[in-house]
Amino acid sequence: MQLERTLVVVKPDGVKRRLIGKIIQRLEEAGLKLVALKMFTPSVDLVKSNYPESDEWFKKAGDRSINTFKEMGVNIEQKFGTDNPIEVGKIIKKWIVRFMTSGNVVAMVWEGNRAADNVRRLIGETDPLKAQPGTIRGDFSVDNVILGNSSNRPMANVVHASGNREEALTEIPLWFKSEEILRYTREGEDAFYKQW
Ligand code: CDP
Ligand code: MG
Repeated sequence: MQLERTLVVVKPDGVKRRLIGKIIQRLEEAGLKLVALKMFTPSVDLVKSNYPESDEWFKKAGDRSINTFKEMGVNIEQKFGTDNPIEVGKIIKKWIVRFMTSGNVVAMVWEGNRAADNVRRLIGETDPLKAQPGTIRGDFSVDNVILGNSSNRPMANVVHASGNREEALTEIPLWFKSEEILRYTREGEDAFYKQW
């Protein structure tokens, strides 16, 4: 057992589309445990700090658009005014901040065995067009990079989740004070969770 916590945020599109309950249900049914939850409109600073302000992150985000635009034969420079991945990534980050602060989100901490990797498995690929059916993004969105970016916005992929255990460790304290994260045992799970 590798007990971990990870951050999940139902994005404004997920809230507006009434998917909060379904998302919670899927994570809960998989065996993960909800240990913190709140609903609010996040501040610009909070969202900015959640997504790294590093050239590495900008490049990764930019490359995702550049590669998909290439695959689909769409001209990236016409959209972004540049084909430099870092510059494209910076534009995407601005869109993310605008989008994530545009309405209420539901921020949660989920706990369980390999929670970060398991949540990523359950939410699926970043681009809903590539996300498998059965995953949250695969089942609840038909958006993709081209459609989103063409409308000057990030992909509406319903949820944010920490990318891995390390990201979870930096993201959770941005969204929750330690006293907001609860410890409790669920009925019928005592034997399984005893060692925690
Ligand atoms: O959310 P995830 O960790 O799967 O992906 P990310 O690479 O950390 O990017 C964060 C969010 O930015 C994504 O969930 C998308 O909403 C958005 N994004 C985008 O719209 N276009 C890109 N080329 C890259 C990211
Ligand atoms: Mg990420």
